[in-house]
Amino acid sequence: IFADKRKNSAGINIDIESQWRPFNEAIQPFRQHQWQAGPIVNGVTLTGEFNTVTAPYDRGETVGQVAFACQSQVAQAVEVAAACYPSWSQTPSAERAQCLLRLADLLEQHTGELVALCHREAGKTIQDSIDEIREAVDFCRFYAVQAATEFAAPQTVPCFDGSTKQLSYQGRGVFACISPWNFPLAIFLGQVSAALAAGNTVVAKPAEQTSLIAFRAIELILEAGVPAGAIQLLPGSGAEVGAPLTSDTRISGVAFTGSTETAQRINRSLVARDCEPVPFIAETGGQNAMIVDSTALPEQVVRDVVRSAFASAGQRCSALRVLFVQADIADRIVALIKGAMAELSVGRPELHRTDVGPVIDIDAKRKLLTHIEALKNTAKLIAQATLGDDCKAGDFVAPTAFEISSIDMLKNENFGPILHIVRFKANEIDQVIDQINNTGFGLTLGVHSRNERTYCHIEQRARVGNCYINRDQVGAVVGVQPFGGQGLSGTGPKAGGPHYLYRFTQDMFNA
Ligand code: NAD
Ligand code: ALA
Repeated sequence: IFADKRKNSAGINIDIESQWRPFNEAIQPFRQHQWQAGPIVNGVTLTGEFNTVTAPYDRGETVGQVAFACQSQVAQAVEVAAACYPSWSQTPSAERAQCLLRLADLLEQHTGELVALCHREAGKTIQDSIDEIREAVDFCRFYAVQAATEFAAPQTVPCFDGSTKQLSYQGRGVFACISPWNFPLAIFLGQVSAALAAGNTVVAKPAEQTSLIAFRAIELILEAGVPAGAIQLLPGSGAEVGAPLTSDTRISGVAFTGSTETAQRINRSLVARDCEPVPFIAETGGQNAMIVDSTALPEQVVRDVVRSAFASAGQRCSALRVLFVQADIADRIVALIKGAMAELSVGRPELHRTDVGPVIDIDAKRKLLTHIEALKNTAKLIAQATLGDDCKAGDFVAPTAFEISSIDMLKNENFGPILHIVRFKANEIDQVIDQINNTGFGLTLGVHSRNERTYCHIEQRARVGNCYINRDQVGAVVGVQPFGGQGLSGTGPKAGGPHYLYRFTQDMFNA
């Protein structure tokens, strides 16, 4: 049964009529639906003062209401999770895995509703929302299969003295899982399913912008058979819910995905706790580059640049921010990018033809527009896509490309559809790699070259987590492209890879 589940979910191709029609019917009842969410502690939904959730593409459209957790509920949730830990950690890993496999099936059965939620609460395009559900399903199955096969019995380890010893794995205690809004289901459930599969109980704090999706996911986890004590949900802000959660001394590990700045804050708070040190898994931001030399195929480069920089409105940690183009072909590439950007359709993300939807909220929009305005004075504007009339009601930022003199002009990650282009000379490839390394970030790197020596050299010298050759650099697939960065981009181990689950465990050596 577990071997059977070692494959990725097929998803839905909306360009194939026979797949689109039933999916479109499934989504219809949720186009106007209103969801309600609150903290879930020990299987009970708690209420409080409700906040209205509106759609990023139209602030006049209400999606639902959410009650955020208060401080006493944070403490209560940790207490319940701590009390359940002994029984959940003693539950055989195959049984824990069965719950996650049932969850994966439930996610697939509820694809219509979950796509509608991702689309309406997070502003994702329909295709991005489908991919989101698919990735969440993949994470659940991937970690379930791994836990069931690798943690079921102690592993036999050959020793240097010729003997063999037994190594067994168990959970660590209560894990805090803190996630971002840009993958509100996939990353949220990726963290939670790994922690549960490894035998931990979980207190999950989703991003405040996407609490409704997280709430539905927890309802499905409970329906899948995970005991109510093993999974708690605390919607709310980082300051009011995240900070007290990570400073609680009963937390035995933190899985975090979000900005580098927040990771550093959580790290400081964990160090300041007067108790034992605990694992901190942090997957954070990037200043991702692509290097294009003169042997690259221009049409292929432009297709991959446009997808890497502007898909999901540039709101992927993996997204391309800085394109380095060899001067010999730069004019041609820039002209093609300009042409491609003129074709981008930016607007309400439910329409089939939409390439770029809104950004997450007004704060994100303001930050991005400030960056664009600043660059207008210091860099050369190459192109700016046109916003459709339907963009006025929501938080949209037009995809924009600038030519800049150096990557050093960029101090922070600009989390949106903004591309920066830098020219380099043929003999400067090593300097380019050094400049990328010197940013301190190390998440994704794209390379376009038909010269094997060049791309192998870049791959070896660059300090990044995921290097993509002659393709786009977004959309890592669970179990196929384990994903995660180094340096300011994260601690590892890579999500969807063979080592991730082990970081959630305590290993015991039987000598
Ligand atoms: P964020 O850092 O603002 O928030 C992430 C989470 O941390 C949210 O749940 C937030 O409420 C919580 N938080 C904030 N302050 C906290 C505190 N003091 N204590 C505890 N929790 C706190 O990030 P975001 O805006 O939600 O997400 C975008 C960022 O995430 C980008 O930087 C992006 O690159 C990064 N990201 C990284 C990956 C990856 O795999 N490397 C994947 C997706 C997103
Ligand atoms: N895993 C996501 C991607 O590769 C972040 O785009």
